[in-house]
Amino acid sequence: MKATEVDFTLNDGNKIPAVGLGTAFPRENQDLVTDCIITALKSGIRHIDTAWYYGSEPMIGVALQKAFTEGIVKREDIFITTKVWPGRHDDALGSLNDSLEFLQLDYVDLFLQHWPLCFIKDTFTVDERFDPLDTWKEIIEIKKTTKKVKSIGVSNYSIRSLERLFKETDVIPAVNQVELHPRLPQLELVEFCRDHGILMEAFSPLGSGGAPLLKIPLVNELAEKYKATATDILISFHVCKGTVVLPRTQNLERLKQGWEFVKISNEDLAKLNEYGIANHYRYIAAEFGINLGFPDWNDSVDYHTGV
Ligand SMILES: NC(=O)c1ccc[n+]([C@@H]2O[C@H](COP(=O)([O-])OP(=O)(O)OC[C@H]3O[C@@H](n4cnc5c(N)ncnc54)[C@H](OP(=O)(O)O)[C@@H]3O)[C@@H](O)[C@H]2O)c1
Repeated sequence: MKATEVDFTLNDGNKIPAVGLGTAFPRENQDLVTDCIITALKSGIRHIDTAWYYGSEPMIGVALQKAFTEGIVKREDIFITTKVWPGRHDDALGSLNDSLEFLQLDYVDLFLQHWPLCFIKDTFTVDERFDPLDTWKEIIEIKKTTKKVKSIGVSNYSIRSLERLFKETDVIPAVNQVELHPRLPQLELVEFCRDHGILMEAFSPLGSGGAPLLKIPLVNELAEKYKATATDILISFHVCKGTVVLPRTQNLERLKQGWEFVKISNEDLAKLNEYGIANHYRYIAAEFGINLGFPDWNDSVDYHTGV
């Protein structure tokens, strides 16, 4: 069975395919995006994770139109996620409208706050005059007042950020998309989200550019044991735990091959978690100068509290 055939259910009742294609493609490779998306859809990938910030939405839109026109897939059979970037923290609706126009869609299946941060427009500089929770409040409003999003969620929220969100708003996000893999299992955050009905989504599941996690000896031992590829193990690691996983590839052969679902035993999942605790590494750790509340990532002062 392909891992792309597995579905999960969100806390609002909507279904989400367990594997989504990541689309944070290198800026210099954007001309390959349309081909990648068509190939992905033809090979049974039904979930695409994109963002206004990635710059790939216009090419994804062209691919989707082609796929609909040629009868490769129907709109209702695929799941599209986009996100609002911190540089547009006070304009979630404008960002969503731009994404919909680029994607040539009337709605997205999932709309996320990309980071709990507010940047000065077109920079990576945090603007502390603004509160990132206001972006989440606007996203809630969009869900309540338009038909442009089916589900809403957050990304890069720590337990601390979520606790504040619970205290100050009345909608629990459907998902929390964070970096997760065998070198960063974030077990406490995963358990916290599960206890609150928030589905986890794993970004950078291969360790991002160059897929360094494919070299982990334990992953390769398990690949041999289960007669699978190392990539299948890294993908199934999440699917077996009930976590959505978002691998990226621009390699058309890999897209055609897809990912096999491997039923990894609880004992082997525990070994992968233990490996992560002993060999901790966070690949996506930009220096924002802001402490987001992740215990392993103490970047300067706390946002708003100044601690
Ligand atoms: N919410 C957030 O803040 C956030 C942050 C980061 C990422 N994301 C999302 O998560 C997605 C995935 O994360 P990511 O883009 O950082 O990277 P990733 O999926 O962890 O890794 C991508 C890299 O793995 C390589 N790769 C894929 N399959 C391979 C295989 N079978 N053998 C060898 N190499 C392989 C790709 O190269 P090829 O193209 O050559 O295959 C690419 O260099 C993103 O695209 C994005 O959608 C979200």
